[in-house]
Amino acid sequence: MKVPFCDLTRQNKEVADELKKAIMDVISSGNYILGKEVGLFEKEMAKYIGTRYAVGVASGTDALYLILRALKIGAGDEVITTPFTFIATADSIARCGAKPVFADIDLPTFNLDPDSVSKKITTKTKAILAVHLFGQPANLSALGELAQENGLYLVEDCAQAHGASLNGKMAGSFGIAAAFSFFPTKPLGGIGDGGIVLTNDQALAQDIQSLRAHGAKRKYFHEQIGLNSRLDEIQAAILRVKLKRLDEWNEERRHIASLYNQKIKKATLPRPLEGTKHIYHCYTIRTSERDALKRALEREGIGCSIYYPTPLHLQPCFKNLSYKAGDFPKSEEAANEVLSLPIFPGMKQEEIGIVCEAVNSL
Ligand SMILES: Cc1ncc(COP(=O)(O)O)c(C=O)c1O
Repeated sequence: MKVPFCDLTRQNKEVADELKKAIMDVISSGNYILGKEVGLFEKEMAKYIGTRYAVGVASGTDALYLILRALKIGAGDEVITTPFTFIATADSIARCGAKPVFADIDLPTFNLDPDSVSKKITTKTKAILAVHLFGQPANLSALGELAQENGLYLVEDCAQAHGASLNGKMAGSFGIAAAFSFFPTKPLGGIGDGGIVLTNDQALAQDIQSLRAHGAKRKYFHEQIGLNSRLDEIQAAILRVKLKRLDEWNEERRHIASLYNQKIKKATLPRPLEGTKHIYHCYTIRTSERDALKRALEREGIGCSIYYPTPLHLQPCFKNLSYKAGDFPKSEEAANEVLSLPIFPGMKQEEIGIVCEAVNSL
């Protein structure tokens, strides 16, 4: 029996009738750009995470970029972030004209190590961009304190962490603003691209509303250079249906993770920080035999994936930053050892058993 790495059709099948109706309602409405559904979804998402404002945009990448733009971060500024993340986290910083400055991670959690961050703060630093990798909140208390002590913005990359929390407070409600992605595989995923910015800062929200519409607050009057980056009306309608199921689906992910935790014996398992609610966008193990394990799982027809094989400080696109191998040992160790196993709503008990057996039999 084959086990897919992720099968989105299973969760979408559960809500297929509601999705069809939501899509047809948009088609019948005749309002296809920034209509009623985007407005309602913005309100519902802000309420779910616990922020005052939400601005729907075209992708998680644009959400990150627009936050930094609205914070007036640009040439001559530095933003500290992790090299162990998807490229969008750091290329958004570069796209604003600012310099991504990397700090190392804490290995059990794969998230930014506050001690490493503190060593990278300079007079040019404007923000700390924390990523809640794999669905696990970063150490937001320590990073928040560092940001406050040094007069920096704390920005959250929540692309993988819809519904994760720390001490009962949702990831996405800690910093000046948070970026979420609705890429289909994310814990809350659309049927296409999408993203949102959440914030409690009214001026920031208004500026991002203007930036997503070519820098215009009123039609055909452009105060600044912006872009066309709107959450699509049909995606918003789909996301409204799926948001209602998010907690249930996250609990399903957490249940699968608890079974993996009990049954997998032959690898280093995820170890969440105390007080965090990890929602397991990915279930990522570590082993020095990673490449052999990956080959063995693939031979058995079990999907698995390496997030991420090359840390960002070693990516050719950041050659200009002059980092070298050895600069961030923990991120490099993670890149060499991680393997993400199948975990998705609708995964069957039998499939979980097959994965555990295959991992243990290496
Ligand atoms: C950590 C992280 N940040 C940002 C993004 C970018 O989101 P999007 O694909 O919606 O642009 C992703 C998407 O994979 C991500 O995983």
